[in-house]
Amino acid sequence: MQDDRFERLAAHRRVIVCAGAGGVGKTTIAAALSLSAARRGRRVLCLTIDPARRLADSLGLSLRPGVEAEVSPELLAGFGGAPAGSLSVAMLDPKQTFDDLVTRNASSAAVAQRILQNQFYRHVSTQLAGTQSYMAMEKVLGLLKSSRYDLIVLDTPPTSEALDFLDAPERLVETLDSPAMRWLVQALEPSGGLSMRLLARGVAALLRTMGRLTGRGFLEDMAAFVGELNELFGGFKQRASEVSRAFRAPEFAYLLVAAPSAAAVEEARFFAERLRKLGMSADALVLNRVHPEQNDAPARGELAGLVAARGLTIDATHLLAAQADEAARARTEAPELAKARHLFPAERLWLVPVMAGDVRGLADLAKVSRALLG
Ligand SMILES: Nc1ncnc2c1ncn2[C@@H]1O[C@H](COP(=O)(O)OP(=O)(O)OP(=O)(O)O)[C@@H](O)[C@H]1O
Ligand SMILES: [Mg+2]
Repeated sequence: MQDDRFERLAAHRRVIVCAGAGGVGKTTIAAALSLSAARRGRRVLCLTIDPARRLADSLGLSLRPGVEAEVSPELLAGFGGAPAGSLSVAMLDPKQTFDDLVTRNASSAAVAQRILQNQFYRHVSTQLAGTQSYMAMEKVLGLLKSSRYDLIVLDTPPTSEALDFLDAPERLVETLDSPAMRWLVQALEPSGGLSMRLLARGVAALLRTMGRLTGRGFLEDMAAFVGELNELFGGFKQRASEVSRAFRAPEFAYLLVAAPSAAAVEEARFFAERLRKLGMSADALVLNRVHPEQNDAPARGELAGLVAARGLTIDATHLLAAQADEAARARTEAPELAKARHLFPAERLWLVPVMAGDVRGLADLAKVSRALLG
């Protein structure tokens, strides 16, 4: 099993995190890995953040936020799904996840209701940067507890900054537990006795970072929410660091997905470095949509012959132009591949070629997973 990429990645893992910038193929790679896991007899859930509707449609699933949908066992069996394996897909519902967390942890139904109806809570649970990533992490931890799945493949939100995902809980806490916020909570306590004029001056900076929301009711809601949240989680800060710590456990694998472009490879390098500083490591760098070198491209005459032999009415000139374009892309990518090879040892650098069209349905996913896992 030593040379089996999948086993090396997943043997002792319960979660595989697919991280990377926007549009590089995280959802596709997460789905392809999930299919591989189901084919090997694992009960797997692919948790995605974006709607990925076309992919879901092509798997015969209608995805609704927060609802787990299973690919039909018959369909899966047709693609080599092991009898014990199953493939489910769910789309994260950050607000629902946050609501569940509040309901589960509140000391009473009344406290839960108060928080859920708080307008600042509604802002935090839907708008605040990092909430989506943080809730994805909470959702994964909740699913792990349920033991319904052997493996969870998490397709993370696109990160504009390489470190965004791992730092999401801390960043959220930094916002909610900033000195300005603590001051605000104190000031708004009934005995605080500060005038709104003073208060407004003190929180002006904070409000600028929170958006365009103002007004006394909102400020009071904010203070009430922070106070109650702290009580809920025995300190929100502690909760966030617990979640972060859980994601640093050895049963979590990290796959960095990147395009074979200079910026993407650089970002992957940052992420890998960040993981290393946390005492973790990136299990593999997946370079997706690589244009293969065109060493054995047919010449014009040969191509015209092939087209004619298949009874096609395509102009060979167009085919040659497309081929030249592919070759040019392969040449542009070559230095980036070389850089990636320098950064990652061969067994941890996985190349997935660009497919002929969009990746849809199990047949396409199977092709991607073959390329991915060898
Ligand atoms: N190897 C590939 N060959 C061809 N098309 C691909 C490949 N990988 C992904 N795609 C296509 O590229 C598009 C983007 O892929 P995907 O949705 O997986 O990216 P993403 O990183 O999840 O994007 P986002 O950050 O927006 O969520 C999709 O249409 C997908 O079908
Ligand atoms: Mg996606």
